[in-house]
Amino acid sequence: MTAMNVPCISLRDFDDRRLEITSELMKASSQAGFFTIKDHGIPLEQIRAAFALSESFFALPDHIKAKTSHNGKNMGWEKNAQIRPSTGTADLKESMVLQFARMEGMWPCEDDLPGFRQQAEAFMFAMQRLSIKIMECFADALGLPADTFTEATVDPGVGDSQTACRLLHYYDLGGKTYDPDQWRCGAHADFSLLGLLFQRPGEFGLEVCPGREVVGDHGLGNVWIPIEAKEGHIVCNIGDQLMRWSDDRLKSTFHRVRLPRPDEKQGPRYSIAFFNQARSNTIIQGPDRKYPPITGQDFILNAMRRDKLGNAKDVKAASLNSNIATESGVPPARLVPVVG
Ligand SMILES: [Fe+2]
Repeated sequence: MTAMNVPCISLRDFDDRRLEITSELMKASSQAGFFTIKDHGIPLEQIRAAFALSESFFALPDHIKAKTSHNGKNMGWEKNAQIRPSTGTADLKESMVLQFARMEGMWPCEDDLPGFRQQAEAFMFAMQRLSIKIMECFADALGLPADTFTEATVDPGVGDSQTACRLLHYYDLGGKTYDPDQWRCGAHADFSLLGLLFQRPGEFGLEVCPGREVVGDHGLGNVWIPIEAKEGHIVCNIGDQLMRWSDDRLKSTFHRVRLPRPDEKQGPRYSIAFFNQARSNTIIQGPDRKYPPITGQDFILNAMRRDKLGNAKDVKAASLNSNIATESGVPPARLVPVVG
């Protein structure tokens, strides 16, 4: 593996700098598979309000949150329920997954959390608009029509959107001890097309491990690179759908969220993720036809099945044996970690 980093890319003057930005996006995505963006146009006040909304949801009693329990279709609330093949243990978190379509009965009711749906949807649409700008750059660079991924992910009104926003709450760990096998979020690769992630400053722990060559495999590199949590910056990553759609040119990279070490802040971590997903009947196939065509629906079904039955032992072994790139220390020989 050659030296690589997780660069920060400015979207300032997007229209005038589109070619330059596209080049930076492609370089980052064909190497680390992760990058952060700034100057993206989503106001800091709106991001803070979204985190406040998330906190207000998770502060509700469990029996209220359970009114919208996860329905098995990637919507709803779960707690200590996501077991990663890489760890065999449940992530130490709760989350609430929201979608644009088929959410009947899955929104918190107005009596429990007034205005939740309205504010959440406004933020989701803002993230979708931003995602479209980035995905159009990828389509251009891959030689596809510019609206390929827009058409693929944005519901034209038929209710087949699979794009999801996930509010995440990793618990306050003060005064508690955990086994080495336990993680806030165990190592995994996303099966989305493009992911966007908001973090709050000081709420660290996200690490990425570039090195995956072929979509769907469990290959890992050997160094985990931490990504600093910077307010207003958005962490973006390529998911398996776009890796396949680009004939493996863009890399969907394993990542995880580690527990704080004993000498670090033990408080909670909140993050907000937005996963652009191919619509159910969208056909995914790259320009070089490296892989056979597959629908968005089948892709996700296959990915979920593979995650359950796949080579979990290899992921776990690689995860435990890999090194850590420190944020402030001397970088390892083959990687230069750049954070934000
Ligand atoms: Fe992820």
